[in-house]
Amino acid sequence: MIIAIDGPAGAGKSTVAKLVARKLGYLYLNTGAMYRALTLKALDNGVDISDIKKISALASASVIGLINNPDGSLVVTLDGVDVSLAIREPRITKLVSDIAKIKEVRQVMLKLQREMGRRGNVVLDGRDIGTVVFPQAEKKFYLDADLKERVNRRHKELNSLGREVTVDAVNSDLTNRDKIDTGREIAPLKKAEDAIYLDTTFLTIEEVVNKLFFYING
Ligand code: DC
Repeated sequence: MIIAIDGPAGAGKSTVAKLVARKLGYLYLNTGAMYRALTLKALDNGVDISDIKKISALASASVIGLINNPDGSLVVTLDGVDVSLAIREPRITKLVSDIAKIKEVRQVMLKLQREMGRRGNVVLDGRDIGTVVFPQAEKKFYLDADLKERVNRRHKELNSLGREVTVDAVNSDLTNRDKIDTGREIAPLKKAEDAIYLDTTFLTIEEVVNKLFFYING
């Protein structure tokens, strides 16, 4: 079975997707991490992110891997190097949506994601999984939450990682990314018509996971 979980940043997708995958013994694929890995490569190579040709070439020349550890954690590799932590840096978060809106980049990622998910028994989270990557997924969810709540969650998460960021900075990052992700021409963030919509604003992680299982088992 393929389970697709889409929605904006901070809606709880990756936490929930990881837990669902673990409970089912499925593979977990965090597709946002792939766009982040490419963004890291562009920055580390000094490639101007508005240079679409160079960014596209970089995407085709990159080997991005997602490895599921037995303890449930996810390792992201870029050309064989573990970049799991580096891709969460603010400099990446700031630019990733601009890289993810490039058509040629999305074509490369689409192919990779379809290859990775083809075997089935996989949970993918992202922005366009239910609409574009796996429109035939057996279960599709769209997780959402009020902006304020998403900002609070992301702020807490960053603080717990020892990153000192203000609520205002997180707010403007999420607002900016929401705008780019929903407004882009190719595969914009939107709920697939047949996806189940879940507002997680007032729900705990456990409640969201339980709701998903209600539909997965149903
Ligand atoms: O899930 P995330 O916040 O780590 O994703 C980072 C960015 O990658 C997000 O702002 C938009 C882009 N993205 C995308 O365009 N399509 C996906 N399937 C996943 C992420």
